[in-house]
Amino acid sequence: MKAHLSRLVLFSIAFLFVLAASGGDGDLEALIKLKAALVAPGSSALGNWDPASADYCSFSGVTCDENSRVVALTFTGVQLNGTLPPEIGILRGLVNLTVSCSGLVGPLPVELAALPSLRLLNVSNNNFSGGFPHVGAGGFPTLEVIDAYNNNFSGRLPLGLAAAPRLRYLHLGGNYFNGMIPEEYSDIKNLEYLALNGNSLTGRVPASLSRLSKLKEMYIGYYNMYVGGIPPELGMLSSLVRLDMAGCGLSGPIPTSLGSLKHLDTLFLQINRLSGSIPPELGGLSMLKSLDLSINELTGEVPESFAELKELKLLSLFRNHIRGAIPPFVADLPNLEVLQLWENNFTMQLPESLGRNGRLLKLDVASNRITGTIPPDLCASGRLETLVLMENGLFGPIPEKLGECKSLTRVRLAKNFLNGPIPAGLFDLPSNDMLELSENFLSGDLPPVIAGNKLGMLALSNNLITGSIPPAIGSLPALQNLALDSNHISGAIPPEIGQLKQLSKLNLSGNSLSGDIPVGLTRCSSLVMIDLSRNNLTGAIPERIPALQILNTLNLSRNQISGVIPPEMQRMRSLTIFDLSYNRLAGVIPAQGQFLVFNESWFVGNPGLCGPPLHVRYPCGAGGGGDGNSGEGHSRQRRWDAKRALPLAGLAAAAGVPLAAAAAKGWRHWRERKGRSKAWKMTAFQRLDFTVEDVMECLKDDNVIGKGGAGIVYRGSMACGTEVAIKRLVGRGAGAEHDRGFTAEVTTLGRIRHRNIVRLLGFVSNRETNLLLYEYMPGGSLGEMLHGSKGAHLGWEARWRIAAEAARGLCYLHHDCSPLILHRDVKSNNILLDSNFEAHVADFGLAKFLHHPGASECVSSIAGSYGYIAPEYAYTLRVDEKSDVYSFGVVLLELITGRRPVGGFGDGVDIVRWVRKTVLEAAEATDSAAILLVADKRLTSTPLDLITNLFKVAMLCVEEQSTARPTMREVVHMLSNPKSPPPPPPPPTDLLSL
Ligand SMILES: *[C@@H]1O[C@H](CO)[C@@H](O)[C@H](O)[C@H]1NC(C)=O
Ligand SMILES: *[C@@H]1O[C@H](CO)[C@@H](O)[C@H](O)[C@H]1NC(C)=O
Repeated sequence: MKAHLSRLVLFSIAFLFVLAASGGDGDLEALIKLKAALVAPGSSALGNWDPASADYCSFSGVTCDENSRVVALTFTGVQLNGTLPPEIGILRGLVNLTVSCSGLVGPLPVELAALPSLRLLNVSNNNFSGGFPHVGAGGFPTLEVIDAYNNNFSGRLPLGLAAAPRLRYLHLGGNYFNGMIPEEYSDIKNLEYLALNGNSLTGRVPASLSRLSKLKEMYIGYYNMYVGGIPPELGMLSSLVRLDMAGCGLSGPIPTSLGSLKHLDTLFLQINRLSGSIPPELGGLSMLKSLDLSINELTGEVPESFAELKELKLLSLFRNHIRGAIPPFVADLPNLEVLQLWENNFTMQLPESLGRNGRLLKLDVASNRITGTIPPDLCASGRLETLVLMENGLFGPIPEKLGECKSLTRVRLAKNFLNGPIPAGLFDLPSNDMLELSENFLSGDLPPVIAGNKLGMLALSNNLITGSIPPAIGSLPALQNLALDSNHISGAIPPEIGQLKQLSKLNLSGNSLSGDIPVGLTRCSSLVMIDLSRNNLTGAIPERIPALQILNTLNLSRNQISGVIPPEMQRMRSLTIFDLSYNRLAGVIPAQGQFLVFNESWFVGNPGLCGPPLHVRYPCGAGGGGDGNSGEGHSRQRRWDAKRALPLAGLAAAAGVPLAAAAAKGWRHWRERKGRSKAWKMTAFQRLDFTVEDVMECLKDDNVIGKGGAGIVYRGSMACGTEVAIKRLVGRGAGAEHDRGFTAEVTTLGRIRHRNIVRLLGFVSNRETNLLLYEYMPGGSLGEMLHGSKGAHLGWEARWRIAAEAARGLCYLHHDCSPLILHRDVKSNNILLDSNFEAHVADFGLAKFLHHPGASECVSSIAGSYGYIAPEYAYTLRVDEKSDVYSFGVVLLELITGRRPVGGFGDGVDIVRWVRKTVLEAAEATDSAAILLVADKRLTSTPLDLITNLFKVAMLCVEEQSTARPTMREVVHMLSNPKSPPPPPPPPTDLLSL
């Protein structure tokens, strides 16, 4: 192979030589050819590369020598999007070639290796792919620098480069190279820089790399996954300045020999499985500035010898099992800026003089067992940014001086035993983003001045804070999370809280707050969670609460709130928790929307309340209080509807906040659309290389590939060769009133990614219509296939495989995705086949959107298709995942019998009854023989085991009692582990011509 390649190179050289010699200005010719390839069609880059101009030396990016030979081509960040063509080899004078960040694709031409003067080759940050050109001896004769970082190269690391005699800089990081680091790389004797990080390399790190005596920098970690540990021989790399072997699966101890790397300034070994204690020899790295050993399995203590690391700026040891005290000398390291020791077993006190070196930027010792008080001079540098001491055993007051540390951006002291007042200055730090002091014993009042344009989180929960909430709380424009719960705060909630436009969580529970819920709160339109429970609040629930369109949780329990529940709250689709228990509310509990699924317990303790959730105990008008007349019959009706809606709404509740947020997004979409009713809006769930207009183009009668209950399906071929299936939903009303959570639900579906589920790519909608965009399945549906003329070509093995694949898709919906999804319409026409005849489940979770506008908002459409509907649906009108299992059993019976689920069996007899009856009545000697009576007669081979297994699974799935049916997970198991596993067959070739 190699020989062949070098012959090719030789040939190319000869060829190019002829070309170059043929015209005096071979370079111009080459540049023009280059332009044609470098620049993608339609682009106007390289505009001044004019073939008619003889002055090619003034072309952009071109540098010539005094003989008008091109010596350098330099493009950085010029979007070219084309390829680098072989004609590059004609530019025989080329010394520097830099095309980085230019979007180039395709392979790198092997002709580069023959350029006689090329010294620098920088093709970084492109999309080059394929193997790196392997060149034999004599390739790249003058190359010194090669930077191929961040491309899509794959295959083994190129060996030829090892023979490039002058190579000193080799960067092949950020590609997809696999295999081992070749021993040959140890012989690149001039190598100073070696970067192989971010590939898929495996094997051992070669100890022979220690021969690279000039090596200054070595980066071989990240995504590579080596076996074994750090070769101790690397301690012989006497010129080494930077060693980065982070995140590459290394195990074993840190070799003591690394302590001899006298020039080392950076040692990154984090995110491995290194064990044992930190070798004291590392204290000999007198030039060391950065040491990161975090996220390993290191034990023992910090070596005393580290006192000698006078240059050290960064010390990261977090997430290990290091114990003992944080040694006092750490505070005296004159240059230390970053100290990160969290999640270890450190005990004792923080060094009293920590910070006095006047350099400290970041201190994080969270989640240790440190005691004592907070050292007073942490911010002596005046530039401390991060102070994280949470989850330790610190006690005493927070040093007053920290309140003057204006540089702080993050203060997290929660979960200690700190006491005394909070320094007022901490509430007024200009850059602080997080002030988290929860779960201490802090006392005193909140200061009158609270400010900070950056503060996103203010958490003081579970302390002993007294006084009232100052109006200044409204002057935190970035505040998202305000937690003052479980303190002794009193007084009214200041109306200024309404100014917090970013606020998403508000927890004031467990205080002694009084007065009304400020109406202004309803202007905090980002609120997702409000907890005002366990206070002394009075007055009514603000009528404008529904203005909080993404509110998910509203807990007002255990106050003295009176009045009625505003009926408009029924519109709050995002609300999933609404606890009003133990107040003084009265009247009828609204009975629509989310109220259908609210817990009874959220309404108890309000003697004046009555209505559906409390129906059993407090029916309206039956002495339970409230104005019972207003629609009792209505409520009963609704209660019944609520039962039917439960499985569905349960799903929504399980989705929790994400769904709520998605719903809010849908709502916003609608609002944006409102003005321009016809305008189409596309929501993509992944990158799509086509536009709304492209989709519209496809909605032609010629493109219809299916019509069914769910709507019309079109096939769309997009410009870039993408094929999609476009489903136009029927019976869908318009706009927000009829959205019914459609946007939210579809967004949830759009997140589902599974090999055996048809991918929902996005949707396009306007006020009248919704179009769903799916990946296109060229094999059509299983139903069409099986019941069509080609059904006979679908052999037993293929049927088994399709059954197993479809089962995996359904299993994912039922058990593995969040929220869990009921398909509700499993049938052979909803199992689609791709070009390899692999099965993909389609149309899940949509059945509920197929009702007509104006119909009840509860589930009103029949769930499922005739012939597939589980018996329990007839009398309970509710479906659960076992109903899907039943429908899947029917599909299995279709696969076995080759017959449609209904029709042709006589009056009222469907496939399930027919199969049961036939097998039961058969006077055959064995089960298997009986089963063959129902098996598809079109197939000639009869692998009995396989058919019997399939039959047994099918009959379990169609059990009358839903509890007797297996779960989809069990079905997958049964279909994946048959007693005699059928070999996975290749797709039958006679089917590929469909
Ligand atoms: C090159 O491709 C990128 C990404 O596909 C695109 O954004 C850019 O517009 C293209 N540029 C040219 C000049 O074609
Ligand atoms: C090639 O690049 C190197 C490093 O960037 C530079 O020093 C040298 O002058 C360049 N040579 C030419 C011919 O452009």
